[in-house]
Amino acid sequence: METDRLGPERPGPWTRGRVFRFAAPTGSAGPSGSLPPVGELDNTIAVITGAARGQGRSHAVALAEQGADIIGVDMCADVEAIPYPLATREDLDETGRLVAATGRRMVPVVADVRNLAQLEAGVAGAVAEVGDIDIVVANAGVVAIGNRDPHAEDVYTAIVETNLNGVWHTLLATVPSMIRNGRGGSIVLVSSSQGLTGRGGDGSAAMFGYAAAKHGVVGLMRSAASAYGPHRIRVNSVHPGGVATPMILNEFVAAKMMESPNPSVLSQALIPDAPIIDPKEVTEAVLWLVGPRSRFVTGVTLPVDAGHVAT
Ligand SMILES: NC(=O)c1ccc[n+]([C@@H]2O[C@H](COP(=O)([O-])OP(=O)(O)OC[C@H]3O[C@@H](n4cnc5c(N)ncnc54)[C@H](O)[C@@H]3O)[C@@H](O)[C@H]2O)c1
Repeated sequence: METDRLGPERPGPWTRGRVFRFAAPTGSAGPSGSLPPVGELDNTIAVITGAARGQGRSHAVALAEQGADIIGVDMCADVEAIPYPLATREDLDETGRLVAATGRRMVPVVADVRNLAQLEAGVAGAVAEVGDIDIVVANAGVVAIGNRDPHAEDVYTAIVETNLNGVWHTLLATVPSMIRNGRGGSIVLVSSSQGLTGRGGDGSAAMFGYAAAKHGVVGLMRSAASAYGPHRIRVNSVHPGGVATPMILNEFVAAKMMESPNPSVLSQALIPDAPIIDPKEVTEAVLWLVGPRSRFVTGVTLPVDAGHVAT
């Protein structure tokens, strides 16, 4: 099947019979208003893990604004080894309200990405409600900035089980639905600048676990891009630098920074005045990667880090 031509006579995997807004012939959805405007992700289903707050919420709302219905996964519970609170059920419901305000819907799934059976059951239940999956953003993650204990094995394990195993589990829980729907699709794995560089490593179990897991995500991404390419499923990773979310803006990190500032973590950006970026900057990259404008992009690592890893 041809994959390099878009137009009304050949609906793409994203359109289910409709044309892409940017590919539509002049006049079909223009300012004259003869047809309602079509979102780039109209009639798609997107699974987002870690959807209750932070970057996951930003991605959920933006994808919904472009027409996607959302399956929003979050554990909504704390992890003992992780020294800051994770999201709550109220946070996940708030994401659902924000998605609903765009005119789309979100099916909430309370599941722990570390637990494959729980994740598979939750996603399968949501798919039964809204239909097969087109888009996946594997975003759930934890960190333990400021815990400098080299022997904190519980911290290392929690980070690797969430940030690496959880991403693998997310692929297992979602890709069968994507293959079944036969429309192709796009998967974005959320890594980190710590998935491309070890700079900032301090010998702690927390930083070793985080860098190992986030580098591991690149291996998963490349292998998955190879495995799922024949199904026209693209797989890429994004690598944010510091992002203003509760993961780093919390009391534990603030206290640790007061005790012992570590400006090297923040000072590597090439672009001035961008030590910590807004989640919506990462969302812009995710939107491009999950949508039709990147239809021949697969297997790439895309930093969104103001140049942190560029040199
Ligand atoms: N904030 C940053 O500076 C930064 C930088 C680079 C990469 N990242 C990555 O971005 C992603 C999103 O992080 P964020 O900044 O939005 O942080 P966040 O803490 O605000 O959000 C993470 C979400 O993941 C959920 N979660 C955690 N463990 C889970 C589990 N086992 N199962 C299901 N859900 C779980 C949390 O409840 C929370 O809602 C993470 O993968 C993180 O590692 C963050």
